[in-house]
Amino acid sequence: MLTLALAKGRLQETTLARLEQAGIVLPPEQPDSRRLVLNDVRGEYRFLLVKPGDVPIYVEHGIAQAGVCGRDVLLEQEPDVYEPLDLGFGCCRLVVAGFSDMPWREANHLSKLRVATKYPRITQRHFQARATPVEIIPLSGSVELAPVLGLADCIVDIVETGRTLAENGLAVLEDIAPVSARCIVNRAAFHLARHQVTRLLEQLAPPA
Ligand code: PRP
Repeated sequence: MLTLALAKGRLQETTLARLEQAGIVLPPEQPDSRRLVLNDVRGEYRFLLVKPGDVPIYVEHGIAQAGVCGRDVLLEQEPDVYEPLDLGFGCCRLVVAGFSDMPWREANHLSKLRVATKYPRITQRHFQARATPVEIIPLSGSVELAPVLGLADCIVDIVETGRTLAENGLAVLEDIAPVSARCIVNRAAFHLARHQVTRLLEQLAPPA
């Protein structure tokens, strides 16, 4: 039996739908179920439902042989895992966002740019590459509030529909990277369970 770590939240529903299309069906759950470990009806897979940022940890440590999470999480954590498959859903962009009239491009060498984000490492790398000194303000959610309330000059975050930015008076200032859901595989499992892993990747691959 293969164990897969799945990201709860925005990717969960689409991930379960892709599994179902592949014939990997979970038993119907009670609406109020809080179960975090589920088996498919054929008993071939075990699923761990975890926070998106924890998926690579379970896979890297071999607790799960494979997992599904966003590329944003992989860029942030740079885990030591294989990343063999772009699942083609959960598409969004990692961006720098803020007030569209913010003169940060001109001001950025005079004082440190204050950047609020859930992605401190991506942010550090991005601004380091352009030699812009930054003070990173780590937040765990609702990052758009930070520039609105004066906590930060701008944010680094994911944008999907753009609605959260627009409804808070913010705009995309710069693109950093495209993001989509990825299937990741534990390095040892990729070799030791090659047959099962290959079959899983074939099952989950997006339609051509
Ligand atoms: C993400 C992201 C933005 C929002 C973007 O947050 O951090 O806030 O979604 O989506 P949109 O462009 O479609 O509006 P999430 O919903 O994951 O919650 P969080 O703010 O609590 O992290």
